[in-house]
Amino acid sequence: MLILGIETSCDETSAAVVRDGKEILSNVISSQADLHAKYGGVFPEMASRMHIEAIHPLQLIAGAEAIQFPVMCLIVSGGHTELVLMNEQLKYQRLGGTVDDAAGEAFDKVGRMLGLPYPGGPHVERVAKDGNANAFNFPRSWLEGTNDFSFSGLKTAVLRELKKLVPTLRAGEDAPPAATPTADLAASFQAAAVEVLTVKTVNAAREHNAKEIFIAGGVSANKVLQSEMSRRSGGTPNCVAVRFPPLILCTDNAAMIAAAGYQRFIAGQRDSLDMDVKPNWKLTT
Ligand code: KG4
Repeated sequence: MLILGIETSCDETSAAVVRDGKEILSNVISSQADLHAKYGGVFPEMASRMHIEAIHPLQLIAGAEAIQFPVMCLIVSGGHTELVLMNEQLKYQRLGGTVDDAAGEAFDKVGRMLGLPYPGGPHVERVAKDGNANAFNFPRSWLEGTNDFSFSGLKTAVLRELKKLVPTLRAGEDAPPAATPTADLAASFQAAAVEVLTVKTVNAAREHNAKEIFIAGGVSANKVLQSEMSRRSGGTPNCVAVRFPPLILCTDNAAMIAAAGYQRFIAGQRDSLDMDVKPNWKLTT
């Protein structure tokens, strides 16, 4: 069965054709990131206009997955940070999520403070490669006893440190002076965010006897997150695999929409093509 998926949730327009929920015949992504960069974030009215202009399916990529349930999913994007237990296809149990900023949002805000282009995540990762992750001991928010996350305190701690280093800086408006240890700040921030994400995900996977861990959303492109998740989950009994999408599928794309549509279609779920704009679709029913 061929499913056409269309994804227009934020600043990428994407269309994909997926066979039987797993074979990607085409997945085209047209990004508006450069356009929004000058505003330091997504400009919604312009985004919706650009989506209308950009819709067009093409290209050939491939991929397939036999999944072993239960799966612990960490969804980490610009708008979401959630831990979801998947017992089988379409059976989702939301275990927790961020109580304030999403992980990607924190990466973007820290990127902006450090004078990096939007979206900040990939740039923070790039700059952090030359930094010392132990240079600053930024706080880890554990929210013990819950599967929730919090990144607002971490983001504020980076701001506080930056203001200590450069008291005159209007963070987010001026680029820090060249002498600022930007790489160390980026690396230390990234280490703190990644540690909390990986420890909490692996603990939840152990608790629920998950056989696999999936990481999805834009932040899943982060190589430090990928390697730390694999390292920490190594000792987890029954946990056979940590899976990250290929880079092209980490951020917004329509192939994931077509794959999810296929699962719903074969489960007998049907709907008309009439739909209203809903800013918050529920994952669980
Ligand atoms: O899932 P996504 O493409 O879109 C929405 O949130 O709608 O995620 C985008 C987020 C942005 O916050 C971006 O900075 C972050 O993913 N991101 C990264 C990396 N690549 C993208 N964060 C950290 N490291 C990366 N390499």
